[in-house]
Amino acid sequence: MTDLRQGLTQAVSAAFTALGLSADYGRVTPSDRPDLADFQCNGALSAAKTARRNPREIAQAVLEVLSKDTGLATAEIAGAGFINFKVSDQALSARANALSFDDRAGASQVETVRRILVDYGGPNVAKPMHVGHLRASIIGESLKRIYRFRGDTVLGDAHFGDWGYQMGLLIGAVMDEVPDIATLITTLNGEDTTVSDARVTEAFALFESRITLNDLDRLYRRARRGKTDPDYRDRARKITAGLQDKTPGYYLLWKYFAKVTRVALERDFHALGVEFDLWKGESDVEDLIDPMVADLEAKGLIEDDQGARIIRADKVDDRRKLPPLLVVSSEGTAMYGTTDLATILDRRRSFDPHQILYVVDQRQADHFEIVFRAALMAGYAEEGGLEHLGFGTMNGVDGKPFKTREGGVLKLNDLIEMTRDKARERLKDAELGAELDLETFEATAHAVAVAALKFADLQNFRGTSYIFDLDRFSSFEGKTGPYLLYQAVRVKSVLRRAAEAGHEPGPVTVSDPAERDLVLLLDAFDQAVSDAYDKKAPNLIAEHAYKLAQGFSKFYAACPILPAESAVRASRLTLARTALRQLELSLNLLGIEAPDQM
Ligand code: ARG
Repeated sequence: MTDLRQGLTQAVSAAFTALGLSADYGRVTPSDRPDLADFQCNGALSAAKTARRNPREIAQAVLEVLSKDTGLATAEIAGAGFINFKVSDQALSARANALSFDDRAGASQVETVRRILVDYGGPNVAKPMHVGHLRASIIGESLKRIYRFRGDTVLGDAHFGDWGYQMGLLIGAVMDEVPDIATLITTLNGEDTTVSDARVTEAFALFESRITLNDLDRLYRRARRGKTDPDYRDRARKITAGLQDKTPGYYLLWKYFAKVTRVALERDFHALGVEFDLWKGESDVEDLIDPMVADLEAKGLIEDDQGARIIRADKVDDRRKLPPLLVVSSEGTAMYGTTDLATILDRRRSFDPHQILYVVDQRQADHFEIVFRAALMAGYAEEGGLEHLGFGTMNGVDGKPFKTREGGVLKLNDLIEMTRDKARERLKDAELGAELDLETFEATAHAVAVAALKFADLQNFRGTSYIFDLDRFSSFEGKTGPYLLYQAVRVKSVLRRAAEAGHEPGPVTVSDPAERDLVLLLDAFDQAVSDAYDKKAPNLIAEHAYKLAQGFSKFYAACPILPAESAVRASRLTLARTALRQLELSLNLLGIEAPDQM
């Protein structure tokens, strides 16, 4: 199914070709002056420049040879040689009817399906997620959905941070704080037989009774302060090496860390509507590391550097001097980049993706550049197969990365809680949800909160930073998630009332200007989705959803549905239903769900 713009582009391109001019001049775009026209073509101006001819003459010639079969009401030359097009009501009606029968509301799919792996979320063991993980989760989830909707085979992987130096720090800190645990760990470490199931259960019971996720967070922060003390650091490194060798005591305690963290993370991701296909961690590639290092060595890529083993990844070209990739530390441990490199191999073996997209904070750009270069040098990836999609920070009103009032990092769970409180307040102020039972009201408040957070984030291009303003984001007015939900709920309620009264949707006949505008918006969906896909930019879908919600609102104000005469009512019901489907599809691509009532 081609949209109106593409159909026109084809016709106008054919006209240019017929005049012996390049088809490229025939590109048609939405009009800059929607009050005057629906679409425009600026090609005559460019063609005139190249051919040193008069643009209006070329435009005139184009109109003369333009097929009469294009569904246009008018095609006129304006200004220096623009061509303005107005689509006929019949063509708009036909397009609306076609869209109304399409489950995808006009969105096409890619011609060549690719396998894509989206690495996003990136939570860490023993640390509750904070606002920094919010953007990774929101943007990654949306990109994953956009790729999938376009037809690609997509896997989302959380890439849990669970194998680095911070694990050694934390194990040390727990042993310092809880002597019983320290004793048990030391005993287990000294045994070379595998630990029996009974002892594992016993050990876990001890860990559970003494250490909660909050303790881990507190200990972790305290341990990090020990960063400057060389002895402390040394011990943590040794423990990390011990863990990576799977020394029984360390390994068991680490398993416990992973378990408790996982429960909390699942709760937070679930609350945000974020779902991973794979929940793999750095540690999952642990057995690939030694053979990989051997392979890198055999390929002559590894160098010694004061006891550590590194890859100088700036060899590929000298665009930019980057630090080397630290593959094995002087204690013999694998580093953040090592597990990332091995994960590329793992993904290649298990899924063989055409592309891996890393949705991670822009501040990690150098890290990825170094890992990618090393992967190319080692032949683990092809040019273009790895891409870092960096994003900016979510800032407070002071323009710095968002902090709590006390100056700390805000936990994601607390942020969700805070936004939900605000959503309840907003619903009450707007006198919405008053008839809902408590459970439904709570679910609605939750949906409003998630929509507020996600839309506030996704309406910006991912690379830009934005200021978190809960009051503005949670309002039912303006360019916000709650506004979109409100409009979706309004359409649902009209459709429900129509169904209750036994009114059926029927063929669309466009006549009112607000109907025209709505159909033109519906027509633009395919372009919005394919641009969002090509540019990896969910904000283009956010923009479309917002315009569509506004378009519906204007249409509904100008064109009464239920009171209209039967054929008009049937036509408008179809328009409303199609708008709702497209709005819900757009919201779904952003990871947002509209409730049925408010
Ligand atoms: N765990 C990391 C962090 O919190 C993010 C992981 C991103 N993904 C990756 N493949 N390195 O910073």
